[in-house]
Amino acid sequence: MNRKNESKANFVKLQKDAQNVLSQNDKSRYTVPNLNLYPHQWLWDSCFIAIGLANYDIERAQIEILSLLEAQWHNGMMPNIILHTKSQHLKDHADRHSRIWRSFKNPNAPDQVETSGITQPPMLAEAIYKIGEKLPKLKRREWYKLTYPALLNYHQWLYKERDPHNEGLTLQIHPWEVGLDNTPPWMNELNDHLLPWWIRFVATTRLDNLIGWFRSDNNLTIKNERLTNVEALAFYSVQRRLRRKNYDFQKIIDHSLFAIEDITFNSILIRANYCLRQIANELEVRLPSDLIVSMRKSVDELDKLWDEYAEEYYSRDFISHRLLKTTSIGGLIPLYSGGIKKDRALRLVNSLKSERRFKSPYPVPSVPLDSNWFQDQRYWQGPTWINTNWLIIEGLKRYGFNDLAEDIRNSSIEMVQKSGFYEYFNPHTGEGLGSNSFAWSAALIIDLLVNF
Ligand code: GLC
Repeated sequence: MNRKNESKANFVKLQKDAQNVLSQNDKSRYTVPNLNLYPHQWLWDSCFIAIGLANYDIERAQIEILSLLEAQWHNGMMPNIILHTKSQHLKDHADRHSRIWRSFKNPNAPDQVETSGITQPPMLAEAIYKIGEKLPKLKRREWYKLTYPALLNYHQWLYKERDPHNEGLTLQIHPWEVGLDNTPPWMNELNDHLLPWWIRFVATTRLDNLIGWFRSDNNLTIKNERLTNVEALAFYSVQRRLRRKNYDFQKIIDHSLFAIEDITFNSILIRANYCLRQIANELEVRLPSDLIVSMRKSVDELDKLWDEYAEEYYSRDFISHRLLKTTSIGGLIPLYSGGIKKDRALRLVNSLKSERRFKSPYPVPSVPLDSNWFQDQRYWQGPTWINTNWLIIEGLKRYGFNDLAEDIRNSSIEMVQKSGFYEYFNPHTGEGLGSNSFAWSAALIIDLLVNF
């Protein structure tokens, strides 16, 4: 076999392996990220999974999305976790989680399913749009018609509730809402403003080592690859504050010390708005005019998150409008938004090409290599993730940086060939970290194999 045929055969096998991971994690109408560590349905995971599925089983991709829509809140919110309490295999786990969340206390919670009380990055429009692109015209229109009301409702909720000052950027109230859980800018804010005295006490007395036993993720994966115990306690403490207010946004925001206009979330929203507009065009319907105004403002306001001196995008504190000047992979996600100018995109590309910053042997690290936060195995504080690579690749292609897009695509493929469909990877060695058989790693590799 010559080299070209050999790599073709390898890719065919890789795609088959990836499809196997997705079918192992398939619970008939939804897919779990990982059978042991994440046995529920997550919002942005399911969107990435649907994008992968659409390449070989479009009907199953549609079902993945429809199962998400069944959990939409009455006010339009899409929750980040659907607990599927009625599913027998999850019963105990889901019961425990529904006690943690108790979101049914909020009158907007859905009647048929149990969910969390917060959201996650708005990848939904992209998933619906990409599925549509793979359908013939008539079916595409049917698909868009079926999903459009829920999608519109969701985007209206995003602006109505999460952009209370009508500025164009939405705010997030928990690091889980951003999907990059312990990413440094959020951890800095938590440390500076929000840790209750008892967590500070635990941290300074090193009692956290003793209480690690309560964490199921540490039993399932290696400890130094996960959140620290202090980070985990801090996350649950923020979640408990939200639960005490029954996830009533008005009550939360009136007393909040902690609300961030996150760069990753808002960049994804700008792209999602583009997809929603395309869908509306195809259906020949007009989007509500106040939504159009907000969508435009988002693009203008994102520009204000640029720091000319550091040549970087940052998240912003909602109340003080202070930029949170801690670098992370979030600063590169504006590439995916499609809403920034080409010269800015070029500066992000320079950062991706810099060996000091993001050019590791297996890019793209979730924190730049020269950051004090960088640890090559620690969750969102260094390792390379397939979903952020996919977002960056999509962005690079949109701005015409095809060679760099191809490099990152190839090294992503190489990582999973070498190590398996892990949750994340060591950016120096490509070694797999966290849980194996991770659904979005499989789904997005399929997409990178098929659509390049
Ligand atoms: C972790 C990730 C989050 C993901 C979830 C399920 O919390 O940080 O982005 O959605 O796991 O895979």
